[in-house]
Amino acid sequence: MPHFVKDIEEIQKRARQKIEDGAVTQTYGLDKDKVCEILNEALATEIVCVLRYKRHYFMASGIHAEGVAAEFLQHANEEQGHADQIGARIVQLGGAPNLSPEGMLTRSHAEYVEGDTLIDMIKEDLVAERIAIDSYREMINYLANDDPTTRRMLEEILAMEEEHADDLVSLLGELGK
Ligand SMILES: [Fe+2]
Ligand SMILES: [Fe+2]
Repeated sequence: MPHFVKDIEEIQKRARQKIEDGAVTQTYGLDKDKVCEILNEALATEIVCVLRYKRHYFMASGIHAEGVAAEFLQHANEEQGHADQIGARIVQLGGAPNLSPEGMLTRSHAEYVEGDTLIDMIKEDLVAERIAIDSYREMINYLANDDPTTRRMLEEILAMEEEHADDLVSLLGELGK
């Protein structure tokens, strides 16, 4: 019976070349430096979101603060989880995660706005989530079928950013805003 993969000998031969590239084989359809650059922007975005949510967690005050602060902390932890996933994938692709504080905010798509009131904080977080949602969607479109592993990771992160946005809209609703 013929193999599903047509030229298995060619694949076997290619697999022995440049083995130091690890997971990145010769049929990787994209410029991996460009993919790492995009992922480093996503990494900066996640880190800025961690910092903003942490700030909001510590500064949340008022009678509704407790539940909202717990939500901020949960989001901060989830954004940190995204940052870790993205950092690990950058390394798998042969790149290096850029965690330098210098230029972090420039590389990030989302902004760092402190906000004066609980409502301001929630609204700023919602705006940041909406920015993340649009930028992840664009990255996913760019990756298309050329890097399904990175694409699937970003799809899962996108789904969680959508949940975050939804949580924040619910909080605004509960607070009557
Ligand atoms: Fe995130
Ligand atoms: Fe988020």
